[in-house]
Amino acid sequence: MKFVTKAVSLLMLTATTATMSALAGQGIQPISPVQDINLALVELGKKLYFDPRLSKSGFISCNSCHNLSMGGTDNLKTSIGHNWQRGPINSPTVLNSSMAIAQFWDGRAPDLKTQAGGPIANPGEMAFTHTLAVDVLNSIPQYVTEFQQAFGAKSEITIDQVTTAIAEFEKTLVTPNSRFDQYLLGNRDALSNQEKAGYKLFKGSGCAGCHNGPAMGGTSFQKMGIVEPYEATSPAEGVYAVTGKDADRFKFKVPTLRNVALTYPYFHDGEARTLTEAVDIMGRLQLGQKYTDEENAQIVAFLKTLTGDQPSFQLPILPPSSEKTPPPKPFE
Ligand code: HEC
Ligand code: HEC
Repeated sequence: MKFVTKAVSLLMLTATTATMSALAGQGIQPISPVQDINLALVELGKKLYFDPRLSKSGFISCNSCHNLSMGGTDNLKTSIGHNWQRGPINSPTVLNSSMAIAQFWDGRAPDLKTQAGGPIANPGEMAFTHTLAVDVLNSIPQYVTEFQQAFGAKSEITIDQVTTAIAEFEKTLVTPNSRFDQYLLGNRDALSNQEKAGYKLFKGSGCAGCHNGPAMGGTSFQKMGIVEPYEATSPAEGVYAVTGKDADRFKFKVPTLRNVALTYPYFHDGEARTLTEAVDIMGRLQLGQKYTDEENAQIVAFLKTLTGDQPSFQLPILPPSSEKTPPPKPFE
């Protein structure tokens, strides 16, 4: 059975349209609450998101590196994968990632469904195979029933169904109602004077040229280090790895600034520990602008108003393994 919900209130829509025209040209929009989702798929995808049995070790779930108690990240420079492997790149937040033009720092996955298959089979992350992950799920009778109900099919569970359900859950991970959104929607008191000054600098000096759209990022790929080069500590080459074009070397998907107060450390190599540092680097390297301490503090104060309502739900209780479930291999 399919449940479809439209969670946007009429009031909100009217307010949004009015503000959108007022904001025309600035390219920043408030985040809308999630709409048009299949609730049965969301519930199933939520379980899979939290289920470490999709990993070889039986220990690592999506939530290990995209912890929904910590802004959808792991707050580490680079992630820790199977067997304590040091990951090559910072884990971006899954919050509002449905709004991005593509997934991953280099955009190599076109959408959330394609993305979700990646980490399960990545030897440095969950280190499993799609076949083994699906074998585990098919050995758990309650999952088999829930997949059949959600997809209305009597067949065995497939990896395509797994990634479809996870992607549907991820669509619900949006964070509306930040203080900045309240401001955009007409509440002029939602920001302090310092935060308003920060917003003015953010627009005036050109940050919004790249960090735009409802997620304030995720709308384009841009070179890191335009005015001054960036000395990265990771070997990542950005979009070049996907296209092989020299012009794409060191171009990364512009990250979302939504909830950026929660998603430290910053940049693809996780080298900026604080927002103060990240703003200073962005100003100098992307815009040729050296902010004073006061200006920097204003922009940081503004960025902290971008924390929205975090996804809130009951922790899913996972169906137990059966006697047929292949045992986890945490130390291989
Ligand atoms: C071991 C840590 C780890 C695990 C486990 C993991 N991820 Fe990730 N995830 C990452 C890292 C690191 C990246 C960035 C990789 C890159 O861009 O090359 C990423 C990228 C993503 C992105 C793209 C976000 C963006 O803005 O581009 C999404 C969405 C995502 N992961 C969802 C998931 C889901 C769903 C699962 C579970 C099936 C999962 N991840 C498991 C570490 C992890
Ligand atoms: C030319 C495009 C461009 C401009 C202009 C720009 N940024 Fe960025 N921003 C990026 C890109 C690309 C990244 C990712 C760089 C990386 O990880 O190596 C980024 C990363 C960030 C991050 C880190 C986010 C994270 O989760 O890692 C912050 C914070 C940030 N920018 C703030 C700003 C501010 C504030 C300004 C204005 C002073 C600004 N940016 C101007 C393209 C831009």
